[in-house]
Amino acid sequence: MTSLWILSFLAFINTVLGCGVPAIPPVISSYSMIVNGEEAVPHSWPWQVSLQDVKGFHFCSGSLINDWWVLSAAHCNVRTSHHVVLGEHNRSADIEDIQVLRIDKVIKHPRFNSFTLDNDILLIKLASSAQFTAHVSPVCVADTSDQFLGEIQCVTTGWGLTSHNSSESSPALQQASLSLLTNDECQCYWGGVITKAMICAGASGISTCMGDSGGPLVCKISGAWILVGIVSWGSSTCNTSAPGVYTHITELRSWIDQTITDN
Ligand SMILES: *[C@@H]1O[C@H](CO)[C@@H](O)[C@H](O)[C@H]1NC(C)=O
Ligand SMILES: *[C@@H]1O[C@H](CO)[C@@H](O)[C@H](O)[C@H]1NC(C)=O
Ligand SMILES: *[C@@H]1O[C@H](CO)[C@@H](O)[C@H](O)[C@H]1NC(C)=O
Repeated sequence: MTSLWILSFLAFINTVLGCGVPAIPPVISSYSMIVNGEEAVPHSWPWQVSLQDVKGFHFCSGSLINDWWVLSAAHCNVRTSHHVVLGEHNRSADIEDIQVLRIDKVIKHPRFNSFTLDNDILLIKLASSAQFTAHVSPVCVADTSDQFLGEIQCVTTGWGLTSHNSSESSPALQQASLSLLTNDECQCYWGGVITKAMICAGASGISTCMGDSGGPLVCKISGAWILVGIVSWGSSTCNTSAPGVYTHITELRSWIDQTITDN
């Protein structure tokens, strides 16, 4: 009973702080056995951002971390002419109550390496603040001291390709549950290219195609979803035995905090 009480207390604290708790709860049909992902319950991942160019073309995803800031991948090359779209589920439907926001600033990690994809992170400052609704709310961000070990449930979401040879990305938001790997396990597959600023997940029959670049890898801790990774790179053929590589938030948290304070 005591631990249940502590868990619900932590969930309550996260609700008060207002991150990582969707108003519409996600439903994940099975854990770590999904092959190609599944459609998400509409609006159950309310921090999911679609990054679109001036013509409304979706090119990357991001995650809303508070009312002014979005996190994405540096290799997405976001520009201030692009738009941040919040509250979207089916990109083919035009009746959704979305927020289309302009971008004030884009700040890439100064040590982003476009060849190795080390430090693949960028921050987007919105030109006007996001309005939190049942469909739009922020995710919690992993802390520098956080360790994600053992049997925790993690999910990646995106409108990315559902297989490497499909020509269209999915109109409706997809999700796939997966588990984290240690960097040693990941190096067994990818070798020495895996840096401290990367974290791997999957490689258990989940397509790394389904999450598109810049989008979230979240894990559920004490009732709240925490942003642990940013979709960065993986197998070019979406080999389901290959771990997906994500930008490692805990390693870059102090850069995130410093950048938000300075801007
Ligand atoms: C998305 O919206 C389009 C246009 O309304 C519709 O034809 C399609 O069935 C929808 N897809 C899903 C998965 O709901
Ligand atoms: C896509 O590739 C898979 C094998 O990787 C193949 O089985 C399938 O037929 C291909 N689909 C199309 C539409 O080319
Ligand atoms: C996928 O990766 C596994 C493990 O490295 C390898 O054995 C297999 O041949 C790869 N499959 C394809 C289609 O590349």
